[in-house]
Amino acid sequence: MAAPIQYAVFPVAGKGTRFLPATKANPKEMLPIVDKPLIQYAVEEAIAAGATNLVFITGRHKRAIEDHFDIDPELEQLLDEKNKDELLGIIRNIVPEDVSCIYVRQGEPLGLGHAVLCARPVVGDAPFFVHLADDLIDAELPALAQMRDVFEAQKASILGVEPVPAEHTDQYGIIDGETGSDRLSRLKGIVEKPRPEDAPSNYAVVGRYILTPRIFDHLERTGAGTGGEIQLTDAIASLMEEEPVYGYEFEGMRFDCGSKLGYLQAGVHFGLRHPGFGQIFRDSLRRMVDPDEKD
Ligand code: G1P
Repeated sequence: MAAPIQYAVFPVAGKGTRFLPATKANPKEMLPIVDKPLIQYAVEEAIAAGATNLVFITGRHKRAIEDHFDIDPELEQLLDEKNKDELLGIIRNIVPEDVSCIYVRQGEPLGLGHAVLCARPVVGDAPFFVHLADDLIDAELPALAQMRDVFEAQKASILGVEPVPAEHTDQYGIIDGETGSDRLSRLKGIVEKPRPEDAPSNYAVVGRYILTPRIFDHLERTGAGTGGEIQLTDAIASLMEEEPVYGYEFEGMRFDCGSKLGYLQAGVHFGLRHPGFGQIFRDSLRRMVDPDEKD
C-alpha cells in the first residue's frame, strides 16, 4: 500500500458575502449544521481519510476557526466543575491528539488556485487532499476516503465530481469526460464555470481533490482566469498535459452550503438523522408542510 496522504488543505479565506449579515463577524465556515460548524464536518472527513496534518489557508476575520480547533481551558474547567462530562469530551476531542493544525495566511484574495499554492511550503513534495467546506457530503464511507482508495489504485490526481443540471455549469469547474460503471473518468479537459452552451459535459467538480505535488509548479505559472482569480481548475488543465487526472463520481449526498437553499437542505437532512430528536423533527416538519395532517 502507498504511504497514506498526510496533508489536507482547507481554503477558508473567502468572504462568504452570500450569507451576510450572518458572516459579517463570523466566518462562513463556522456556520453550524445542527450543532457542528461546517469546518468541523470538513476536518472529520479529512481525518477519516487518514490526514494527520490539517492546513488551513486563512485570511482576516477568521480567528474563530483557530479558536474552534484550539483548547479552551476556561470552558473545560467550567464543564468539569458542572460535571458535564459528555460535553467536555466533545469539546476536548474535536481534533485527535495525533493530528496537527497548521495555519497559513493568504494575504490577498487572489483565488482558489492561489490559496492552494499558499500550502506549498507546508505540504512540500507529497500528494495532498483539498477540501472545500462549502460542499458538505453525507456518505457512508466519507468522500475523501473513497477518493483515497481510488488514488491508491491509480497513483494520479483525483477530483470528486457529480452530474449537475445543465443550466448550472457556470457555477463549477466542469470536466471533459463522463464517468463509467467504475465511477471513474480520465479527463480530457477541464474548464472553470463555462456557460451551458460551452460546457464539455455536465460533470462538475465539487470541492474534493487529491492532487499530486506537481500541481504546485503549474499553479506557479497560472495567471488570473475566470473572475480575475488564479483558478485551481486552470492549473489542473495544465497538469493534465503532463500527468493523467481522473474524475471520480463519489457515492453520497452533496449539499451546496455556499448557497442559502443548500444550507437549509443540509440542516433538514442532518436534523432528520439526529439520533436524539430526528423523529420529533420529522413529525414537526410534516405538520409544518401540511398543517391539516393529523398525528
Ligand atoms: C470552486 C472551484 C470550482 C468548483 C467549486 C466546487 O468554485 O473554482 O471549480 O467546481 O469550487 O464547489 P467556487 O464555488 O469557489 O466559486
